[in-house]
Amino acid sequence: MLSKRFEEIISRIPKCKTMLDIGCDHGKVTYEILKRGICEKALLSDISEPSLLKAKILIEEEFPNSQYFVSDGAKSVTEHFDFCIIAGMGGQEILKILQSNKIKNALIQPMNNLVFVRNQVQDMGFMIVTDEIIFDERYYNIIKIQRNTEFQANTQQLSENEIYFGKTNLEKRSDEFIAYLKFQIRVQNDILKSLSKGEKYNEVAKYISKINEVLNSED
Ligand SMILES: C[S@@+](CC[C@H](N)C(=O)[O-])C[C@H]1O[C@@H](n2cnc3c(N)ncnc32)[C@H](O)[C@@H]1O
Repeated sequence: MLSKRFEEIISRIPKCKTMLDIGCDHGKVTYEILKRGICEKALLSDISEPSLLKAKILIEEEFPNSQYFVSDGAKSVTEHFDFCIIAGMGGQEILKILQSNKIKNALIQPMNNLVFVRNQVQDMGFMIVTDEIIFDERYYNIIKIQRNTEFQANTQQLSENEIYFGKTNLEKRSDEFIAYLKFQIRVQNDILKSLSKGEKYNEVAKYISKINEVLNSED
C-alpha cells in the first residue's frame, strides 16, 4: 500500500504527456502515476545510479517507453517534459534544482526551510499555485509552482503570512493546517524558553505571534 504522502502527491499531479521525477529513488510514485494513466510517459532521474536502477527494475517492463537519467537535477535530462516532481529533498537542494530553465511546472515537497523556499521560489520567477500541508506521521508541505512567462514577470507577490504559512493553507484552513499551527505553538514556545534575548529570540517570538494571529483570525 502506498503511503499517505505518496497518495497526496499523486492526487496533485495534472494529466500530462511527459513527466520527470527528479530524485526518483525507488520510483514508486512514478510507477503509480503511470499505472493510473496520469502521464503518458515518464522520465526518471536521480543523482545516484543505484537508486535509479531500483526505479528502472520496478518500471521498465510494464512501461518500456520510460527513460532514465543519472543526473544532478535536470542537468543531464535531454528529453522535453511538461511537469516535474521534486519530492523528499531538502529545501536548499530543491532550490538549486529549480535554477534549471527546463523546469516550467513542478510539484515540490521540501523537507525543510519552507519560509526560505517560498521566498526564493517567488524571486526565481515562479508563481505558487497551491501550497498545502498534509500529515503522514509528520507534517509535509506540498507546493505546486509554475514559472512565470515573460509577460507575467513577478505578478504574484505573496503576503508575509503566505510566505510563513502557505497561501492555500490560509485560504482553506484545513484541519491538518490548524493542527499543525497548534503543534508549532508548543514547539516554538519550547525553543523560545531555551533562547536568550537576541536576534533568534525575536525571530521565534515573531513566528509565535504570527501563528496566534492566524489561529485567532476568522474562518
Ligand atoms: C529521500 S529520497 C526521496 C525519494 C522520493 N522522491 C520521495 O519523495 O520519496 C531523495 C532522493 O533524491 C536523490 N537526490 C539528491 N540530490 C539530488 C540531485 N541534486 N539531483 C537528483 N537527485 C538527487 C537522492 O539520491 C535520493 O534518491
